[in-house]
Amino acid sequence: MRLDDYLTNRCDDGRISLTEATVMRKLAASAISISRLIRVSGIEADLAAETGGANSDGDDQKALDVLAEEMIIDHLKHTATAYVLSEEQDAPIALSSGEGSETTASQNDQIMVAIDPLDGSSNIAVNVTVGTIFSIMPCDNGPIPCRGRDQLAAGFFTYGPQTTLILAFAKDAAPQCFVLDEGDEHFVAMGDPVRIPDHSNEYAINAAYAEHWFLPVKSWMAEVLAGKDGAYGKDFRMRWVGSMVADAWRIFRRGGTFLYPGDNRKGYEHGRLRLVYEANPISFLTEKAGGQAVNGSERILDLLPKDLHQRTPLVFGSAAEVDHLIAHHRDE
Ligand code: AHG
Ligand code: MN
Ligand code: MN
Repeated sequence: MRLDDYLTNRCDDGRISLTEATVMRKLAASAISISRLIRVSGIEADLAAETGGANSDGDDQKALDVLAEEMIIDHLKHTATAYVLSEEQDAPIALSSGEGSETTASQNDQIMVAIDPLDGSSNIAVNVTVGTIFSIMPCDNGPIPCRGRDQLAAGFFTYGPQTTLILAFAKDAAPQCFVLDEGDEHFVAMGDPVRIPDHSNEYAINAAYAEHWFLPVKSWMAEVLAGKDGAYGKDFRMRWVGSMVADAWRIFRRGGTFLYPGDNRKGYEHGRLRLVYEANPISFLTEKAGGQAVNGSERILDLLPKDLHQRTPLVFGSAAEVDHLIAHHRDE
């Protein structure tokens, strides 16, 4: 089934509003443009070149970070999107739906979209999967991000060997995966609704920071490395792409655990990932898929964002494996 029909069905059964369907169609259209830009222009267009600018977090911006954001904002103009909250902007961007709006959204029907336009920037130049993460939120009192549990929808696109989408709306029981049919330029549903297996022997963490980790992660890692003869009782495999979307896609397809914990490096006490447009959408999808997402001991979706760009430690994936990590955090 095509994404278009999938969204129409959800509108018809009252699960989502026309506003949500329209915004989702526009996000899909922008992802198709971004995917094409990466494939056709690639490195020749210097997509990986530094722009000389930096985002609010001090990360250097690549040309593709900026282009991807522009494409998404262009598509969201003339929808009921009142604000875009982007990794690449210090402050929310106000959009006026006004004339030419494709929905008849009233003031109370307005929504906000939080985006990481390009996740995995450092992988652009080396032809490794990157992606776009999005969160659709209600817009009741200006551009103030809600708790993750109150998101209307969340998902992400990956631009890799295939261009893919995973998506869940608040009233969905589980997320659904889609793949872009390049010839036809439509996203098509892949298989059944997503369910992350409870157990896995695959984990993702940047082990280069091991000496800086706090005790709970150090003690968990010691058990993991002890393998089947240790307390965990099984052998593991490790994967770390450096683009969370790519690690997350693998986890949604076959299970596993992802960790970007806080550590002792200056500025990394709360890890690296941002709550509003990275951890919240991933955690919303994870819980819908039967997995767990925590900052160590607390559920990510319960955290109240205090700042648009605030960071949070993030552990998500297979429920039983995340339980194991939670136990290490409670023990400390
Ligand atoms: P972004 O490119 O949006 O800044 O996000 C990169 C994130 C995430 O995708 C990835 O898992 C992590 O940063 C990699 O960080 P390290 O280089 O510290 O491993
Ligand atoms: Mn990112
Ligand atoms: Mn980014």
